[in-house]
Amino acid sequence: MPIDSANPVPPTYPRRIGMDQVPPHVAPDLIRSAGITYSPEFLAAPHDFMAKLHQDYPSIWYDVGAYGNSWQATKHADALFILRHPEIFSNEGATPFPRDPDDYFYFIPQEIDPPEHRKYRNIVDPVFSPQGVLKLEAKIRKLANDLIDEFADEGEVEFTEAFGRPLPVMVFLDIMGLPQAMRDTFVSWAMDLLHSNSRESMGVAMANITTYLKGAIAEKKANPDDGVVSLIAHAQIDGRPLSDKEVFGFVCFLFIGGLDTVFATLNNMWLFLARNPQIVKEIRDDPDNINAQIEELLRLWSVTFSGRVLIQDHELRGVQLKKDDRITCVLPACNFDPEVFPNPRECNFHRPRQTVLAFTVGAHSCMGAHLARLEIKCALQEWLKRIPEFSLKEGTEIEYRPGGVVGPEAVPLVW
Ligand code: HEM
Repeated sequence: MPIDSANPVPPTYPRRIGMDQVPPHVAPDLIRSAGITYSPEFLAAPHDFMAKLHQDYPSIWYDVGAYGNSWQATKHADALFILRHPEIFSNEGATPFPRDPDDYFYFIPQEIDPPEHRKYRNIVDPVFSPQGVLKLEAKIRKLANDLIDEFADEGEVEFTEAFGRPLPVMVFLDIMGLPQAMRDTFVSWAMDLLHSNSRESMGVAMANITTYLKGAIAEKKANPDDGVVSLIAHAQIDGRPLSDKEVFGFVCFLFIGGLDTVFATLNNMWLFLARNPQIVKEIRDDPDNINAQIEELLRLWSVTFSGRVLIQDHELRGVQLKKDDRITCVLPACNFDPEVFPNPRECNFHRPRQTVLAFTVGAHSCMGAHLARLEIKCALQEWLKRIPEFSLKEGTEIEYRPGGVVGPEAVPLVW
């Protein structure tokens, strides 16, 4: 039964946690506890861990985890099927972020299934289309250079603090029409919401975000401008204005989807480049291949996952999945599927073209993908003009925070 987006209610399917809540249709030999996103083995080297899933785990297994039980899928072909069949694999309740069940709202467009979903995407897609984001290119390049100005002469920098985090936040604030003075506050809220093991600090971050965004929405309703918050606040679907909950759920999901993903991606990529000077040289020596270079870097360093809930029974690879089961496409692992990407850990800017799953596919494919690609391209090109050679500071130990967006916590660089 499709959800009624104008009248949000919490999902009714069960949230299963732990061995005693494994449903009877799950074959015992398919049960594992991989600890993706939080176990010490995962956090030691997340992308190594996800690449090795193809050897160490079944293609589909039932994961019993601290944050909930869910099927995990790692084959590229299975992910394409799951993500392209929303009539079987629904997005309802697909985000793990806490909400008050008595004042429930949907994260839009993420939790809305087709066909309703398209109506929301139509409101903002023009801003995020390839032509729409191109208007931002000069500004992104300037922001990147302004940040680099602050440390270029120092010969060293902690990349995540000085560049990887502030750049996408500044771009995001600009698009949304929110004040740049909120930059550091937004970063800290996003970190608490997305990288906390404690439901309590996630709840506090969510409350801060809610208060701030509700105030910003009220202000844009009174004083429209050309930012995305204002666009959503004044939008209509089916000839009616969006409800307060729809506007809030939409703006709030952009905040969640648009910040941490880009900075985790940049942080992963710069860490990799700092460790691989020959790859940096290849990028510098072949500037016309920049788009393929970015796709390959996105394949190697994809940062997040696609969670779905079954709304009908379905058999996949001989495994019986049942209505109300959850399933996660482990996108970074799918991007390492050796059947589709031979020598999957090798960085090869001349691979035959295949669908890279960093931004997912299907109806819910990332709305910010063109923007993110542009941000990565501008960041890489401007950085390499100013700092063509760099490496990881000696003695650095890289640490990863637990959470659904995978990236290193700090990347100290020297040049
Ligand atoms: C490198 C950076 C990014 C990555 C890796 C990324 C990844 C993803 C992925 C994998 C999904 C699908 C999630 C699912 O299937 O459940 C998604 C959806 C989404 N992303 Fe991104 N994203 C990035 C940047 C952005 C940016 C910059 C924005 C906005 C400013 C954004 C907004 C969204 C939205 C709104 C959705 C939901 C789309 C829908 O449900 O129709 N993302 N993103």
